[in-house]
Amino acid sequence: MHERPRDPSGPVLGIETSCDETAAAVLDADGRILAEAVLSQLAEHARFGGVVPEIAARAHLAHLPAMVGSVLRAAGLSWGDLAAVAASAGPGLIGGLIVGSGFAKGAALARGLPFVAVNHLEAHALTARLPGLLGEASPAPVAFPYLLLLISGGHCQCVAVEGVGRYHRLGGTVDDAVGEAFDKAAKLLGLPWPGGPALERLAAAGDATRFALPRPMLGRAGCDFSFSGLKTAVAQRVAAFPPGPLPRAAAADLAAAFQAAVVAVLADRLRNALAAFAARYPSLPPGRRLAVAAGGVAANGAIRAALAGAAEAAGFTLAVPPVRLCTDNAVMVAWAGIERLRLGLVDPLDTAPRPRWPLEALTGAGGPDAPPREAA
Ligand code: KG4
Ligand code: ZN
Repeated sequence: MHERPRDPSGPVLGIETSCDETAAAVLDADGRILAEAVLSQLAEHARFGGVVPEIAARAHLAHLPAMVGSVLRAAGLSWGDLAAVAASAGPGLIGGLIVGSGFAKGAALARGLPFVAVNHLEAHALTARLPGLLGEASPAPVAFPYLLLLISGGHCQCVAVEGVGRYHRLGGTVDDAVGEAFDKAAKLLGLPWPGGPALERLAAAGDATRFALPRPMLGRAGCDFSFSGLKTAVAQRVAAFPPGPLPRAAAADLAAAFQAAVVAVLADRLRNALAAFAARYPSLPPGRRLAVAAGGVAANGAIRAALAGAAEAAGFTLAVPPVRLCTDNAVMVAWAGIERLRLGLVDPLDTAPRPRWPLEALTGAGGPDAPPREAA
């Protein structure tokens, strides 16, 4: 059979199935988005109050093949036009990872394409470098290094992004992720899952001063987070009311107090992370000091405002990618694939998906614009 020669600078297909979003996207070699699709499985999981891994894996299997076909059609491409296939291979729920990375490997094998096993956290971390993404905040492509604050349902960490495959973790949660805390607090307040957006809406009607809630880690050195004590405090306040639904005003006041505590803690932790980052890169010019917030929790207006204030006070610009690229998506996976391909970093087809896969375990290379490491 005659095979067209591959264009190494051709488009890349990205696939995301690490949690409860089934997503596919095609980007050209310069990072322009040619087509993208995300299917959130909210309806499948809502009645269980959280993501059920088996249901997620089956839903990925049911939806991914047709979604990839429609994304390729929308981009006006066929398999033969692609330069590579990239898929999230961890960290995440193993069933979904097997579906997505298995599909990508099968396609790569059948079509003779390179395969890139993308670390999902690296995909979040590199999103800020998508050309044109940050608009006015950074019209030129974002150069390494920058600080990433990843705040989602599954992750909560501060990372110095130093190059493709080069990450320095400044701190992270010692218990729950911040989105998980939002979801648990929301459940205690009688809100539907996922609770973050509903809690933010309810908090807008509440008085944040009626209930005093703890602010774990506030004022402590370092950049670690802890949220389980805050969740327990919400549970105790709720338990002090008679059984049955909470009065609406009490629920709103508790939501406001919870959100205010999270805002204070995140801003405090970010301040420490910015100081640690600035100390690590003392010669970085002020105009190049960038902090990027990513993950579903970055959609919260009060949190964004507080983070932007903390960044500005420390001489940093805070950039937050558009919400659809902050939450789980395949554009970021395709883009991470492109970044890796440019450095010749492709993976063998027997690469196994990894439910745990910390950023620090990655190997890679500093990009062409990565400075040499400064003080360790
Ligand atoms: O990044 P994401 O879509 O998925 C992962 O966890 O990887 O983040 C989802 C999380 C959920 O915990 C959700 O409650 C939270 O982000 N979230 C919010 C808001 N929107 C989503 N938390 C607070 N305020 C919001 N507006
Ligand atoms: Zn994610």
